[in-house]
Parts: sequence; C-alpha cells; structure tokens
Amino acid sequence: MEKTVAVVLAAGEGKRMKSNYSKVVHKVCGKPIIERVTESVKKANIEKCILVVGHKKEQVMELLGESVGYAIQEEQLGTGHAVMQAVPLLGDAKNVVILCGDAPLITEETIKEVISINEKEGRAATIITANFDNPTGYGRVIRDAKGAVKAIVEEKDATADEKKVTEINSSMYCFDKEALCSALGKLTNNNAQHEYYLTDVIKIMIDENKKVDTYIVKDKSEIMGINNRVQLYEASEILKKKINTMHMLNGVTIISPDNTYIEEGVQIGKDTIIYPGTILEKNTIIGENCVIGQNNRITNTIVGNNTEIISSVLIDSKVGNNTHIGPFAWLRPNSNVGDNIRIGDFVEIKNSNIGNGTKVSHLTYVGDSDIGENVNFGCGTVTVNYDGINKHRTVVGNNVFIGCNTNLVAPVKLGDRVYTAAGTTVTDDVPDDALVIGRCRQEIKNGWTKGKIKGC
Ligand code: UD1
Ligand code: MG
Repeated sequence: MEKTVAVVLAAGEGKRMKSNYSKVVHKVCGKPIIERVTESVKKANIEKCILVVGHKKEQVMELLGESVGYAIQEEQLGTGHAVMQAVPLLGDAKNVVILCGDAPLITEETIKEVISINEKEGRAATIITANFDNPTGYGRVIRDAKGAVKAIVEEKDATADEKKVTEINSSMYCFDKEALCSALGKLTNNNAQHEYYLTDVIKIMIDENKKVDTYIVKDKSEIMGINNRVQLYEASEILKKKINTMHMLNGVTIISPDNTYIEEGVQIGKDTIIYPGTILEKNTIIGENCVIGQNNRITNTIVGNNTEIISSVLIDSKVGNNTHIGPFAWLRPNSNVGDNIRIGDFVEIKNSNIGNGTKVSHLTYVGDSDIGENVNFGCGTVTVNYDGINKHRTVVGNNVFIGCNTNLVAPVKLGDRVYTAAGTTVTDDVPDDALVIGRCRQEIKNGWTKGKIKGC
C-alpha cells in the first residue's frame, strides 16, 4: 500500500440530533462516533488523518486533541468544499481515503480493501457503495448500459428513473490524490442545493476518461450514518450484538443478550454467567465461573474467579475470588476487596482495602480504611472518615468483631482480635485482644410509663 492520507468529514451541523453537543462526539457503545472512525483509520495503518471540522469544532478538537490534523471549514458549502479545505494538508500521499465523521461502523478491513482495489486497478476513484431496499435520501450510483459508472446523482437532483436506483453512495471513497485535486479545482455549485458536491468529482473524472468504479461493501451496516437519536440507538444495537456474540462464542453464558450491555474493552472468563440488566464498562475484567446477577453496573473493575455480584455498582475497583457482592452494594473508586469476602446489602465501600474472609453483611459504610482478614462487621457500622475538612483513615486488624451500630471515628486503629460492643463510638486506638465499650449504661425506671401511654 502506497502512502495514504484519510480525510474525515465532520463539519456538518447535525441538526437532527437536537443536541447542544456536536453530533460526532455522541457515543456509540461507550465510545464517541468520531473516535470510532479515527480508530478504524489507525488500524488500517493510515498514519495521517485529517478531520474537516466546522460546527462545534471546539468539542471535536478537545476530544481528539493532537491525535489527528484539522482543516477548518468555516462555512458548510458542501462535501466537495469540505474536502477542498483539507487539500493543503494532504502532503505527498498517493491515495486519499474520504470517510464520514458520522458513520462509526466502518471497519479497517473495508478501508484497506478499497485502497488496495483502487491502487491495483489504477483507478482515479473507488466509491464505497451498497444496495439499499430503501435508498431514499442517498445519492444514487448511475450506470450506463454496459454497467459502467456514469455519475452520482443526489436525491434532490435525481429524475424519477434515477430515484429507482438502489445502489447508493456511502460518501466514503478512495481517490488517487492527483486526480482528486485536479477534479476539485473544476467543481461548481450549480445544483439544487447550491453546494459544492464531492459527488460531482466522479462525473468530472469520468468525463476525462479516468477509471472510476465502486466497491460494494459486504456488510451494509458499515456505512450506516447517524443523523438522529434513533440511528444512534440502531448503531449501538449492531455493535452490542457483535460484542455479546463474541463473548458467547468464547464461553460466556449471557442469559439475555438484548438486555446486556458490554463495552468493547471488557474481558470475561469462560463459564461466567451474565444475567439481564448488567452493564460492563471500560476496561472491566471478569474472571471465570462468576455469576454476574441481575442489574449490575461494573465499570473499570477487575473481578477474580468464582465470584458472585448481584444488583450492585462497582467503579474503578478490584474484587478477588469466591467473593459475594450485593444485592445493593456500592463499591466506589479504589476499593480493593479480597478473596472469600461477603459484601452485603446497602454496604458502601470507598478507597479501602478489605482483607480475605471478612464479612460486611449489611447497612455499613467503609471509607478510607484498611481492614484486616476475617473481620466481622455488625449491621450499621460507620467509619467516620470526614471531619468536615480532611479525610482520615481507619485501620482494623485481623479477626476483629465489630458490634452492630459501631462508629469508628478516624483516624483510629483497632488491633487484632478486638471486640467492639454494639452501639460503641470508638474515638481512641484499641490494643490487640481488647473489648471496647463506648455507650451509655442502660437504666430501667420501673412503672415509669403508667398513665403515659394512651389506653394503657
Ligand atoms: C452525502 C452524499 C450522498 C451520499 C450521502 C451518504 C454529497 C453531495 N452527497 O449526502 O451522495 O449518499 O452523503 O450519507 O456528497 N460535511 C461537511 N461539510 C459540508 C457538508 C457536509 O463536513 O459542507 C460532512 C458532514 O458533516 C457529514 C458528511 O460530510 O459527515 C456528509 O454530509 P451530509 O450533509 O450528510 O451529506 P448528504 O446530503 O447526506
Ligand atoms: Mg448525511
């Protein structure tokens, strides 16, 4: 493959998204539309990628930074005009691939294929096309009696007969750079929309007896463009299905793939079962033989083997083997939960290490803490980590028994084998093997309620 540069058209307004954000920064399966396009470009081994930006360009430029080059199209005067803005940046490339910033499903295979065909056949242009049952709205590929491409005609400029053609222009192409630049110089905006159509470049080339043909894409979804939220959903569904199918073929049971959302970066071990309503995001890794029960959201978290997680939220955390989480637990960032642990209902853990064999079964907050092994938390324990200005750590040794409704006022340290009486507020460090009681002694006033309780 000779030197190739990619030009991605992303200056359009995207009105139909009805959004304050640029259309191309909206996400499909967790990743911005435009980033999917530029990633496919990179995977196709094209080093230079130029984005034509205009509407809400700051958002696009902030997202992609210096990973790509930019050509600014101040006024959106058509797709041909957009490509003209990138011409000064094309350099010494032989091939120019044009892609749409709003068509995120294009693959590196198709990009490589179209470059290879254009080069091998010595063409001036190869247009990526597809046959659509309903071609309404698209530019149609018009062929002569022998089947050779004559032109691309836009819907608004098409005759009734031309409108019947089902082969549509994807608005993605591979051009020979010299032929493209020469034809761009001859474009006019003499059409229904008074725009400089990139599609007219094709007719100009053919009139000059240059070789032009199409590449009919194998999977039509690759050229799907996103113009509104319904199409955003449709593209996400296509990707979701691909990802879930891949995991199932790798040995993961997904009870209801339609109701399971897994992003691309996620890895899952074999014999793990995923129940409906689960969302696995970013670089989450789930081990083998786990049960990921209903309605979990697990983001950027590493989970070991044989672990069960039900109806919980886990973010930027780590969970070991044979551990049980949930229902209704929340692991906030930097929670490191070991092996053989039980984290039960309405338990919140944040920025803490929980040692192996520990049980935090109900209604407990563990924040900024280092908890040893085989600790038993009674119901309603709170690590009091925040004094209004600073956060402080709680350190708990091994084999500690924490009674119900204990407050551990940080900074505080409990040794090994400590026992806290229920209802205790611990404010000072407790040595190994001690019992700590910090609560009012119970008083009984016999007969005190007589005459004070209605009807008694
Ligand atoms: C274009 C094609 C049409 C094709 C269709 C596929 C032309 C004239 N028509 O039509 O044949 O079937 O795409 O979806 O090329 N853009 C700019 N600057 C502009 C205009 C557009 O950057 O001045 C960008 C848009 O952001 C978008 C892409 O170019 O990513 C396509 O533009 P759009 O207005 O959607 O073109 P269509 O009318 O759909
Ligand atoms: Mg369009």
